[in-house]
Amino acid sequence: MFDKRRKKLKQMSRSQKNPSSMIAAISPNSRVAEQFRTIRTNIQFSMVTKNLQTILFSSSGPYEGKSTICTNVASVFADQGKRVLVVDADMRLPSIAKIFHLNNKVGLSTLMTSQHLKVEEAIQHVEAVHFDVLPSGIVPPNPSELLDTERMDEIIDELKQQYDLILFDLPPIVSVTDAQIMATKVDGVILVIRKDIAEVEEVYKAKELLDLVNANVLGAVFNGETNNYDYSNSYYR
Ligand SMILES: Nc1ncnc2c1ncn2[C@@H]1O[C@H](COP(=O)(O)OP(=O)(O)OP(=O)(O)O)[C@@H](O)[C@H]1O
Ligand SMILES: [Mg+2]
Repeated sequence: MFDKRRKKLKQMSRSQKNPSSMIAAISPNSRVAEQFRTIRTNIQFSMVTKNLQTILFSSSGPYEGKSTICTNVASVFADQGKRVLVVDADMRLPSIAKIFHLNNKVGLSTLMTSQHLKVEEAIQHVEAVHFDVLPSGIVPPNPSELLDTERMDEIIDELKQQYDLILFDLPPIVSVTDAQIMATKVDGVILVIRKDIAEVEEVYKAKELLDLVNANVLGAVFNGETNNYDYSNSYYR
């Protein structure tokens, strides 16, 4: 199944330039930024009926735009003056520190393996986008075991005292259990589905796996690219 995906990815990387991904912050008047604000509005509608302080982003498979969508959504919430934190909980293939050129030596994995380190000491502020980042830290050998601990619950509780909104970037759902584990710890889950990359059966499988742990799936973002890096994001409940 993943062979098909790899083939599509190869074709895509040949045909596409890859400009900076923080499009909502770089071009706030663009159509893409407007679509991120639409996603924000939809999330805010869900907030009316339920307390949504912690939200995770995942997808059925790799390379669907989880980190891109997560950070851009963070940016449009930060624009409203909210205290926003992005947590790189993808401790297998971390990318948030790379996007913002941050040091990734200390982060979530460090916090989870050290009782002495304070959360503030692991968090970095990104001035350009007005939100904070908790990088993944050094890649640990056992990410899913680390996430499935009381220490992780404690960290989330501490972060909730300090931020209005905490967005978690997770690995794909179908291949590893990390996102399923975290889905039981957060208030809501958003599934990113990338045009021409996601396989329908895998998307169904991902939804099944989320339902199995009674995840509160808020909706999905359809991430479709065209030549001019135009997204066609839609959000549904
Ligand atoms: N709509 C889009 N149009 C063009 N490029 C995109 C689009 N969405 C994401 N990308 C690019 O595709 C690549 C993969 O995106 P991203 O890293 O956000 O995916 P991911 O799901 O987090 O991947 P991984 O599974 O490796 O964590 C990045 O280079 C990103 O800039
Ligand atoms: Mg990613």
